[in-house]
Amino acid sequence: MASADRPTSILFVCLGNICRSPLVEAVARQHCAAAGLDVALASCGTGHWHVGKGADARMVKAAAAAGYDLSSHRARQVHAGDFDRFDQVLAMDEDNLDALLTMRRGRGAPVELFLSWAGVDAPHAFPDPYHGDADGFRRSVALAERAVEGLVARLRGGWNG
Ligand code: 4NP
Repeated sequence: MASADRPTSILFVCLGNICRSPLVEAVARQHCAAAGLDVALASCGTGHWHVGKGADARMVKAAAAAGYDLSSHRARQVHAGDFDRFDQVLAMDEDNLDALLTMRRGRGAPVELFLSWAGVDAPHAFPDPYHGDADGFRRSVALAERAVEGLVARLRGGWNG
């Protein structure tokens, strides 16, 4: 359930759960552990196409080059129970935010845009690297690291929900 205190569980959500949200989950897991933050982290997608599959090979490679292991990731689709299981749901872009708000029906964990929640002013939405080149995947890693810095700072500083 959502809490007035800082969230102790966060669900990151993109479209396919094979690029952006598994990356953010892995980056956040590593940096939250290093900061000594006890927070449960997970990711999923609003779409069903990749359920059960591993992360996109291009994302796995770019993440590994920066020291993040996505090899054990398996994609799953969001479901209504997630709004009860997690304290905070963070969407990678507006389309996913809208899909989540529709599913949430005003109940359970708050849903917000990940980058704004983490204090990143621009870009507003996490760019989807899926249809791009290797550079896009490298940029995704750099953006995830920048945003996770903000996330860690926010979790360290308390929660003003
Ligand atoms: P993600 O990227 O939402 O960051 O996992 C995508 C993955 C798959 C597709 C689109 C975006 N797709 O169209 O299959």
